[in-house]
Amino acid sequence: MSKTIIISNRLPLQLKIHDNTIETVPSVGGLATGMKSVHSQSDSLWIGWSGLTEEEFNLDLKTQVNAALKKHQCVGVPLTEDDIEGFYYGFSNNTLWPLFHYFMEYTEFEKSTWETYKMVNQKFADVVLQHIEDGDTVWVHDYQLLLLPDLIRKKKPDTSIGFFLHIPFPSYEVFRTIPCREDLLKGMLGADLIGFHTYDYERHFLSAVQRILGHEINFNNIHLDNRMVKVDSFPMGIDYDKFHNAAKTHDQKSNKEQTEIQQEINKHLKEGSNQAKLILSIDRLDYTKGIANRLRAFEYFLDKYPQFKGKARLVMLAVPSRANVPQYQKLKNEIDQLVGRINGKFAEVSWTPIWYFYRSMPFENLIDLYTSSEVALLTPIRDGMNLVAKEYIASRVDKKGVLILSEMTGASNEMGEALIINPNNFEEIADTLKFALEMPEEEQIKRNNALQKRLKRYNVEKWASDFFEALEATKNDTKKYI
Ligand code: UDP
Ligand code: G6P
Repeated sequence: MSKTIIISNRLPLQLKIHDNTIETVPSVGGLATGMKSVHSQSDSLWIGWSGLTEEEFNLDLKTQVNAALKKHQCVGVPLTEDDIEGFYYGFSNNTLWPLFHYFMEYTEFEKSTWETYKMVNQKFADVVLQHIEDGDTVWVHDYQLLLLPDLIRKKKPDTSIGFFLHIPFPSYEVFRTIPCREDLLKGMLGADLIGFHTYDYERHFLSAVQRILGHEINFNNIHLDNRMVKVDSFPMGIDYDKFHNAAKTHDQKSNKEQTEIQQEINKHLKEGSNQAKLILSIDRLDYTKGIANRLRAFEYFLDKYPQFKGKARLVMLAVPSRANVPQYQKLKNEIDQLVGRINGKFAEVSWTPIWYFYRSMPFENLIDLYTSSEVALLTPIRDGMNLVAKEYIASRVDKKGVLILSEMTGASNEMGEALIINPNNFEEIADTLKFALEMPEEEQIKRNNALQKRLKRYNVEKWASDFFEALEATKNDTKKYI
């Protein structure tokens, strides 16, 4: 029977060694959380990196590693410390990530990391080729594996191959600056179908293909010598029911059944004579997420509207990410200092303005935070989609709560009922925060009703099935074209 092979750099679970035994933890990030739901509902095989380098485990542990992965229908790609350094920290996160998010000043191009990127994409291809059978469908994900579709096509020309990019595709003027631009595009064009979160990213890609490779393009079809590649936008959804149902159960829990975090939240909510409303922010600690700007804008808000001192608190969850890349280390220091300074400036005996967590949290605690916060403030400078925005709305069972969302996120295209802001405009953020905190309940419910309906309909399952249907249709069109 034919199967689907999902391939991404990070598997949905990460392995860790503790006391000579293997432990598994869930991966964070939109790709992993979204695709996990798709994977669990099918008999797919997921190929990727387990989080352990080859140097970290010996032959004895190897059986345990493989068994842990097999249990989740996963297969590991063996990567060494040097591979991770050059491919993951280097070319993926020091070159492609900043460039594709328009942080050109952070983008470093080094020939050595590019060489490692090519070599590691080949390592992924080798593992895929060991597991692929005739009739299988292959779905490659994200910027770490831009060369993989073509590497698979070369060895298995008839395979149905889909590629999805989870981050923005930048405008031609930005993309053209990278020396290996032709190789990257050719790598992606190994796929039959290439998907993006938004129409804008799709247009940017088509324009780069036309201007850099000179291929003929008809609407969203790229004509190659012997094949046709289709490009389309598929905005990724979430597992709506999972968040909505968890929030429902959460609301029915007795005090004793509540998690520690929820009990802490309850305690803090009771602090002082006035209950402080919670303003939530959740992201990986990443410069694209606009966390430092958000803190400065919150400070500006408290200065401009001092009546909210003691009445609003920013709850900020920053999940550790890519801590070996210097830009991320610098950002961590900047945020620590900003939180300290702002808390020092405004704190009162019974109220601290910012409640800051630097760690990842399990699903139940994310639900605690989503359901307890009157406002979500998400201000990325650039973000391919932003699933946190969708998860917050899905978790609002009583339909109350206000989402403030940056216009630079892919999600803002589909979430017009949210309060959309420019993340660089502090004046606008401060005024919008005041507006959100004072919004009448009927208006909150009206806006969330519309948002929830859309999120329920275009959930992650629909996203995946739309993609697969389009992939199949493309394959059939290609047969006619040949
Ligand atoms: N998330 C998580 N653990 C945490 C915090 C967040 O698993 O401690 C998840 C969150 O539920 C969401 C994802 O990480 O599904 C973040 O996805 P998003 O698209 O917002 O941003 P990305 O990290 O992919 O850039
Ligand atoms: C984003 C990327 C994913 C990545 C995730 C977490 O969602 O699109 O490809 O897996 O961030 O980042 P990490 O570097 O920890 O895998």
